[in-house]
Amino acid sequence: MHTDTILIVDFGSQYTQLIARRIRELEVYSEIVPFDEPLEITKNVKGIILSGGPKSVYEADAYHFDDSIFKQDIPMLGICYGMQIIVKYFGGHVEKHDTKEYGKALVDIIKPNALFEGLKSSETTWMSHGDRVVKTSDNFDVLAESNHIISAIKHRDKDIYGLQFHPEVNHTQHGVKVLKNFVYHICQATAGWKMRDYMHESVETIRSVVGSEKVLLGLSGGVDSSVAAVLLHQALGEQLTCVFVDHGLLRHEEADTVERVFKEYYQMHFVRVDAKEKFLSALKGVTDPEQKRKTIGKLFIDVFKETAASLGDFKYLAQGTLYTDIIESGTKTATTIKSHHNVGGLPKELGFDLIEPLNSLFKDEVRKLGDALNMPKEIVYRQPFPGPGLAIRVLGEITEAKLEMSRKCDHIMHQVIKADGLEDLIWQYFIVITNAKTVGVMGDKRTYGYVAALRAVTSLDGMTADWARIPYDTLANIASRIVNEVDGVNRIVYDITSKPPGTIEWE
Ligand code: XMP
Repeated sequence: MHTDTILIVDFGSQYTQLIARRIRELEVYSEIVPFDEPLEITKNVKGIILSGGPKSVYEADAYHFDDSIFKQDIPMLGICYGMQIIVKYFGGHVEKHDTKEYGKALVDIIKPNALFEGLKSSETTWMSHGDRVVKTSDNFDVLAESNHIISAIKHRDKDIYGLQFHPEVNHTQHGVKVLKNFVYHICQATAGWKMRDYMHESVETIRSVVGSEKVLLGLSGGVDSSVAAVLLHQALGEQLTCVFVDHGLLRHEEADTVERVFKEYYQMHFVRVDAKEKFLSALKGVTDPEQKRKTIGKLFIDVFKETAASLGDFKYLAQGTLYTDIIESGTKTATTIKSHHNVGGLPKELGFDLIEPLNSLFKDEVRKLGDALNMPKEIVYRQPFPGPGLAIRVLGEITEAKLEMSRKCDHIMHQVIKADGLEDLIWQYFIVITNAKTVGVMGDKRTYGYVAALRAVTSLDGMTADWARIPYDTLANIASRIVNEVDGVNRIVYDITSKPPGTIEWE
């Protein structure tokens, strides 16, 4: 039923889903296939992309895959590790190098070609590799170099291309143009896939999987679980019950707002569970970030189980897990960065079957889905908020006093940013209460209080991010209000780390 399709062979890159999503943004359907599964080349398949990955092609544990695809007459693009696979297959040479290329790199196009159509002769790109191609076989042309390192190649007689840089990340300035050239011109795929299609497909899939069973959804009020709730409600109506666990780790007045929206506006089956005490006592003495995440994730499920048992017979547990949550928690091929609340904390003996209708989407795609579902803008365009809530924004041990500081500081930051008209320009902003204390002076008296860090980032999908260039006056206003209004905080710092190498949250 799908229109033209691009297959993406996944070798474990952090960015594989980003490639898929970029192709879908071009309104061409794309599908990710793990490297060790057979590729089904139907007539709709117009091209194949080989993803990057953490391995080295020359090592014994390099991924083995069905290389008969190279004999197919189908356009192919290898990205990073994907390009190195192509080089090795055709008899070129890849080597480990002492100097790695991470981050921005200027690439010089030395041979004009269809992939780089419309680009300048020198382009800003994003690299992330340790190995490099030192030589291609004779049947390849080098299309581009960065600092004399081969960064793009093409087979002389076939539409097989390789890129050392990542066209899928935003920091590659004209990456979308490169992918467009590949998809539309080289593969000759035509656009025809939209978010509304995804919505209809999801509704149908949910109905056919669930049948007449009952589904329990963990609703946090954040964008992800809210969109999942509305999507599931559309598919299942009365079969869905939303459970909102108030774990006491939420922001200013958040719990009441969530209840109002879903209970009154959407008229869903909505159960609010007050579990603040339980969470605080489980977190007592826990300081390690991973331990916090796992403790919260596990307790969340326990509370769910208890609630479900008291509510009746549920077969399914639905969650608003995103692709980012999965990839950053580690997959078969990618390495773990953080155990995201919805994934890492799940005990094996869950007792429910899981439904995760958003687990192939990125945050901004979820928002598009929310729009396709006609959801109110104030829900769909809310900032992302992590499942473990303020627990990972209060460093070290969680206490009610620190949580209260965090809520007050966060509320002030939101008020000032809104008043200064910056709300739509910043992707995500919040306060981190650090566990460092410093000396200050107020009204001639010595103070000894916590350092609060302001974090504000621009991003499109949470995979990469840059710190927001907030005007000094706004920063000054936030800092002075916090120090004056929030007991226990006496110093403010601004976090200017991008992702990578930092992550957006501090824990
Ligand atoms: P990091 O800190 O990994 O965050 O750069 C990327 C995005 O994900 C959000 N985040 C989470 N979301 N459960 C969630 O649902 C989590 O455990 C979690 N941890 C981080 C974070 O706020 C950012 O938007």
